[in-house]
Amino acid sequence: MFKPTLQDGHNRRVSYVRISVTDRCNLRCRYCSSPAFNSHFREEILSYEEIERLVRVLVTLGIDKVRLTGGEPLTRRHLDTLIRRLILIEGINDISLTTNGVALADQVESLRAAGLKRINISLDTLKPERFAEITGRDCFDQVRAGIEAAFKAGFSPVKLNVVVMRGVNDDELVEFARLTLKLPLHVRFIEYMPIGSSSSWSGGQVVTGAEILQRIAEGLGRLETVTTTPGSPARLYRLAAARGRIGVIAAMSEHFCASCNRIRVTADGRLRPCLLSDDEFDIKSLLRRGAGPEEIADLVRRAVAGKSAAHGLTCNAERKCARQMATIGG
Ligand code: 5AD
Repeated sequence: MFKPTLQDGHNRRVSYVRISVTDRCNLRCRYCSSPAFNSHFREEILSYEEIERLVRVLVTLGIDKVRLTGGEPLTRRHLDTLIRRLILIEGINDISLTTNGVALADQVESLRAAGLKRINISLDTLKPERFAEITGRDCFDQVRAGIEAAFKAGFSPVKLNVVVMRGVNDDELVEFARLTLKLPLHVRFIEYMPIGSSSSWSGGQVVTGAEILQRIAEGLGRLETVTTTPGSPARLYRLAAARGRIGVIAAMSEHFCASCNRIRVTADGRLRPCLLSDDEFDIKSLLRRGAGPEEIADLVRRAVAGKSAAHGLTCNAERKCARQMATIGG
């Protein structure tokens, strides 16, 4: 079959869309949501029908991979029905989900049955009290149950995303890495990025990928490099005899913009070519006024063509990205 390709202005192929299905969340992580943040009204968020229409157009352009994010995607009702609809679209090869895991234990079986292939769970600490401090909610046990349920439902690997913040959770690097010895878990350490209401962000709080790896190696021994899936932002490593993997997503210190293959759709229906640039294109208005596939495709091509070569943020920079992470979906 003829396979279309969507190319940006820097010779990168765009094949992956991340869709935020809601900006609501059942946690209030200090670095992610500001207390003043009000989520959008229901009518302002793309409906499942609108998301499906959009994905049908994206597939004709060359997108074959979808990730659902939030906010917390599992706070949106019947997410499994959206997965069922998207998976039926010919040309979609992969549907994945990023969740905080709080509501996962209850839903994981139905998500799996709907056809979900891969799952990432965000978890920044292994200490229940610290979890409550970081997230504003005392839900560590629920997340833990969610992780266990994900294994039980057959997800393998299960990926954990850990945002590393100096002075907040960087004393847990080794404990997190140790989990990979016995479990088929990918623990992915993410450099802290200056996004939205992470107003407390400062360059000094970023622990670089290099330092993360060094500290893990000091604690647990040599890390062997493992080949990574093309387009994945994580560099992967393995401890000797480990079942799982350790990943580092060094978006700040060694950005991977040159291999960026993705676009994002915000909960309120804006196409966002780069997580860390506030350029957005209003795709919702087109969907709502009944625009045809060609008109929608034109906007997508225009957005992709203008995708910047690199995000340009550094640990010393003043500039932050203004949008709330909750509406973009990380
Ligand atoms: N820097 C890095 N990662 C972040 N995330 C949310 N905010 C930030 C930030 N400022 C992470 C979440 C989740 C993923 C979608 O993005 O913790 O794992």
